[in-house]
Amino acid sequence: MGKIKVLSDAVANQIAAGEVVERPASVVKELLENALDAGSTDIRVEVEAGGRRLIRITDNGSGMMRDDAMLAFERHATSKLQSVHDLEQIGTLGFRGEALPSIASVSRLTLETHSRDESTGTRVAINGGKMVQCEEAGLAAGTVITVRDLFYNVPARKKFLRSEQTELAHIASLVTHYSLAHPDKAFELMHGPSELLRVSPVSTAQERVFQVFGGRTLEDLVEFGPEAKVLSTAEGEQKHFELSGFISKPHVQKLNRNSIYLFVNGRLIRDKLLLHALTSAYHNLIPPACYPFALIFLDCDFGEVDVNVHPSKTEVRFRHSSFVHDFVRDAVRGKLMESKPVSSLPLPQLSPSQPAAGLAFSEFTQRIENAAPDFFEPLMPVDREAKPSELPVMRLEMPMGPPQRFEFNDAPMPARMRIPDTHGPLPPGVASLTEYDSMGSLGDLRPIGQIHNSFIIAAGRDGLWIIDQHVAHERILFEQVLRQFARREAQQQRLLMPMVMELTVGQQLEYARIADELARAGFETEPFGNRTIAIQAAPTGLGPGEIEKVILEILDISETELRKSSVEDLRRNIAASVSCRAAIKINTPLDHQKMEYLLNELAKCEYPMACPHGRPIALRYSTRDILRAFHRI
Ligand SMILES: Nc1ncnc2c1ncn2[C@@H]1O[C@H](COP(=O)(O)OP(=O)(O)OP(=O)(O)O)[C@@H](O)[C@H]1O
Ligand SMILES: [Mg+2]
Repeated sequence: MGKIKVLSDAVANQIAAGEVVERPASVVKELLENALDAGSTDIRVEVEAGGRRLIRITDNGSGMMRDDAMLAFERHATSKLQSVHDLEQIGTLGFRGEALPSIASVSRLTLETHSRDESTGTRVAINGGKMVQCEEAGLAAGTVITVRDLFYNVPARKKFLRSEQTELAHIASLVTHYSLAHPDKAFELMHGPSELLRVSPVSTAQERVFQVFGGRTLEDLVEFGPEAKVLSTAEGEQKHFELSGFISKPHVQKLNRNSIYLFVNGRLIRDKLLLHALTSAYHNLIPPACYPFALIFLDCDFGEVDVNVHPSKTEVRFRHSSFVHDFVRDAVRGKLMESKPVSSLPLPQLSPSQPAAGLAFSEFTQRIENAAPDFFEPLMPVDREAKPSELPVMRLEMPMGPPQRFEFNDAPMPARMRIPDTHGPLPPGVASLTEYDSMGSLGDLRPIGQIHNSFIIAAGRDGLWIIDQHVAHERILFEQVLRQFARREAQQQRLLMPMVMELTVGQQLEYARIADELARAGFETEPFGNRTIAIQAAPTGLGPGEIEKVILEILDISETELRKSSVEDLRRNIAASVSCRAAIKINTPLDHQKMEYLLNELAKCEYPMACPHGRPIALRYSTRDILRAFHRI
């Protein structure tokens, strides 16, 4: 007799659960997606003990008819897909017909559901995949699914669960993500008796960002889109793509990717292609090992994206991937260039007697940000020590617009905060006050002097400015060198004596690969025997001591991180290296004329906000903040 046997459904479901249900947050994800697919507008998530003891999701969606309520637990039972052709046009979040049977096979699950098309509701209970109850029940329209004792029958899985706090943070992160993608719906997340998130429907994504992250985060963001782009395919078809979202100003520099939220057709995904597009957009604007905060919504024809790539449906494949990549990169970069956001000086903290709502929010969002350690494969270890009871509670019910109020319960008393209206009356004597959110006013700055021979102090029509002379000059030179690259007209200086440089084998290979680009930048070099090169000329501005350092820097950068990157990236890196070495150093006294020159040239820059390594160039203490600090408004 043969050895091969077909597995029973019970075993097959548990195997599927291995892929689909990794942790409590995966259950929340599947149930949330089902609720959204069912057209719900109000979704409540309750969890206990980080979701291990209980997860309950209540929705006001379509509900299920009695027959469907039982069928839903059969493997491959779905209402969302009928034929293989539908697989190419998936508009729902679910489609595999796998989630409910998988979850039910590793927990004690109760489904209570009532479709508006039937007079009564249905209650079904399943323990470890076995149906133990199925009865009629008087229920409100919609669906409640309760999942208790997750992995009670799979001890091996249970052992891998992390602390209650970590599991809860994953769940909080997930619910937050979905609430951001659906601002028109109400979401609530309870952990035992504490309310972690509660947002009422609002009409714009901006209002939802405010509800979830608070005003301080919103100030750090630039909203963009919707931007549309049409792709004409080789077959003569037109494919539509639309992009919108929020991206952080360059001073926001996160150490991991957990603050990057990508949604494709409303589905939360992790995707290397989009992540790469985003980081390329920030290239030379923030430091290489840092990530922005970004909330990106890409919508396209369903046929353009294959969602059937991974059982947990968090990965996708784009049919025209390089088009999508470049669209996202150019749209984000274009917006950053256009908005030229300026960094403000940090303002004094509110006194402890005035609990600052922003602090509670940032603490909360920090937790969420740290939460999903493996969701975005973070680069840094995260703090998992805090207890769930320390998680602050947010309650946000007011739409945006002054006065804005919110509550949170980690204040000594349940408190209501009023965010001061920043457009209040001006004190007498101050005729008018225009606040510029961009660096547009840079052209009118009058230099007043230097601090520490390093920072230029300047007065502008919108406040007091402090400019880092080294990074400002670096940015000016960087853009000059890039322009020269494009026009093939690098400014060169000949060396009196050729400079001879020894290279390692790796550097030698790299040199052979990028010698043309070095020449374009103004380095005249030639091979000079075994693993040695002679330098005859270098870009103007580089001191003799710097030339060798720049070449080594370029060879090393290109060897390690840029081997696979584009010529554009290589040029940017060469330009960044040259300009950093050639720029005025800190601790250098400057006369008035030089300061004026620097400010004028900086004003002409395409992107005067950050040096090519991502450090901020200028800080502004706005007139309004100055007036506020002196209690004049
Ligand atoms: N909250 C809900 N409200 C109404 N119907 C639901 C709800 N949850 C599940 N269903 C029904 O049960 C079916 C099975 O759900 P299940 O999550 O197992 O599969 P799916 O969503 O179709 O696909 P996937 O496995 O990709 O999630 C769904 O197709 C849907 O018809
Ligand atoms: Mg589903």
